[in-house]
Amino acid sequence: MPRPAHALLSLTVLVAGALAVSVPAPLLGRDLPALPGPSPRPRAAVDDPAEANARCESCHREIAAEWRGSLHQEAWHDPVFQKAYAVEPVAFCRSCHAPEADAASYPSRAAQDVGIGCTTCHQQGADIVGARDIAGSAEHHAVRGDARLATKEACASCHQFDFPRSKGQPMQDTLVEHASSSLADVSCQSCHMAEVEGPDGKRHRAHDFSVISDPAMLARAVDVVARRGDGGQLLFELEGREVGHAFPTGDMFRRLELRAEALDAEGKVVMTAPSVFLARRFGDVAGAVSTISSKRVEIADTRVPAPGRGVRKAVLRFPEPTTRLTVRWVVAYQRMDAAMAVSFDVDQARDETIVARGLIPPVPAAKPKPKASP
Ligand code: HEC
Ligand code: HEC
Ligand code: HEC
Ligand code: HEC
Ligand code: HEC
Repeated sequence: MPRPAHALLSLTVLVAGALAVSVPAPLLGRDLPALPGPSPRPRAAVDDPAEANARCESCHREIAAEWRGSLHQEAWHDPVFQKAYAVEPVAFCRSCHAPEADAASYPSRAAQDVGIGCTTCHQQGADIVGARDIAGSAEHHAVRGDARLATKEACASCHQFDFPRSKGQPMQDTLVEHASSSLADVSCQSCHMAEVEGPDGKRHRAHDFSVISDPAMLARAVDVVARRGDGGQLLFELEGREVGHAFPTGDMFRRLELRAEALDAEGKVVMTAPSVFLARRFGDVAGAVSTISSKRVEIADTRVPAPGRGVRKAVLRFPEPTTRLTVRWVVAYQRMDAAMAVSFDVDQARDETIVARGLIPPVPAAKPKPKASP
């Protein structure tokens, strides 16, 4: 008997689904060591990365000013990284957070200070690499053009990677999320390296890469609709907007908190709904020692999907109906959960960013029916 058509169809869907989540080999950068990525870098270790970087900075001043203080430059000194690294001081972490050093040992002070520097992204062997060829002159060095620098491949080998001890389980999944979105053709650079004009009137691609310190950017990532449901329910719909991947993407602990409270006519809070958190959730593989990067598997992902991948629905539940009350709701972006924030000395209330908020007025009481005249 021939297979029913729907079985074939669902098989095709399964196969397509499996393909959609596997990273295309070139993205992993294994065969393309020349692109920016973790150490070892495709060149002899720079003797003094701070000095080499300072040379670039001395001419490219505006770009240098943007890069200084960015999380790329701070990748090693970032206090949150330092707290996490203290839990698990391994070469794996050093290869990305101090890529100018040999990851086999603790990075030199210079490599720590440079973090992810000009040379990390622009130096291959003896060449300075840019998105296009520029002939050298008396005033400046030659630039070897590598068109891949203007594409997501320039970011892939640091922003897409598996847990070191559970292959196939992404610790960060940004490139795959991007590839599966309706904005797969929009490069990371077009959102994260906008063209800006310097005081000299010349335009260049910005190098501050700021997200966490840019509340407006975080807010642009999502459209939120909230409305009353039955009983004490508050129904949320969240949809990705000007974002090229799931929201929040990146580090495995990023999350959104949906919270709400109900106010009486005087504005006093009379009821609070337990919060709902949108995040990736992980389980430890049985028997593995639990550390940040131990053998982990993703068991749930309730984040806002990448554009084109649907709407995230969520429900908050007040203990009682809120019909006669004003409901005040908030969507807050947080870098990590509350317990981790305490152990990492992060003041979560000050650290979080409100990305959306709203007020729902009470339902007006129905007018009493006029009494029928006797
Ligand atoms: C002596 C000054 C000087 C130094 C030092 C220098 N550059 Fe340049 N660089 C220039 C000039 C001038 C250009 C010409 C194009 C321009 O106007 O930006 C250029 C071009 C570039 C470009 C290509 C820009 C484009 O428009 O595509 C890149 C990338 C670059 N430099 C990176 C670096 C890096 C990385 C270093 C350090 C390893 C460095 N430069 C050191 C002056 C310098
Ligand atoms: C393949 C590259 C790579 C490796 C390996 C890596 N990281 Fe990261 N890490 C990143 C990237 C990229 C980000 C930025 C993502 C973001 O901002 O959400 C990041 C962000 C972080 C953050 C968040 C910092 C903040 O300010 O909130 C912490 C903490 C962190 N990494 C710790 C570690 C630790 C600990 C290890 C080793 C167990 C490690 N990382 C290994 C690439 C890497
Ligand atoms: C995380 C990787 C990364 C780091 C770090 C980085 N760059 Fe870039 N840079 C890029 C990419 C990618 C482009 C190409 C963007 C494009 O054309 O789409 C670029 C472009 C440039 C350009 C050409 C800009 C333009 O639009 O004309 C110059 C010059 C440059 N970088 C210099 C530097 C200098 C100097 C530093 C250090 C202060 C630095 N870069 C640090 C990734 C990086
Ligand atoms: C050598 C590895 C490396 C490369 C290459 C790299 N990144 Fe990163 N990136 C990191 C690390 C590590 C962090 C986080 C540092 C931290 O927070 O401790 C980071 C952080 C970021 C952030 C978060 C900044 C914030 O304020 O939250 C953005 C956005 C980002 N990178 C975009 C890019 C893009 C776009 C590219 C490609 C043009 C790129 N990165 C290339 C390693 C890299
Ligand atoms: C259409 C614009 C757009 C594109 C394309 C895009 N991003 Fe983003 N990205 C955003 C916005 C908006 C945010 C803030 C919301 C969030 O955290 O997801 C963000 C956040 C980030 C963060 C910080 C996450 C955090 O919470 O620390 C990283 C890292 C990042 N993007 C990397 C990338 C990389 C790598 C690519 C390409 C594969 C890319 N992005 C493509 C718009 C974009």
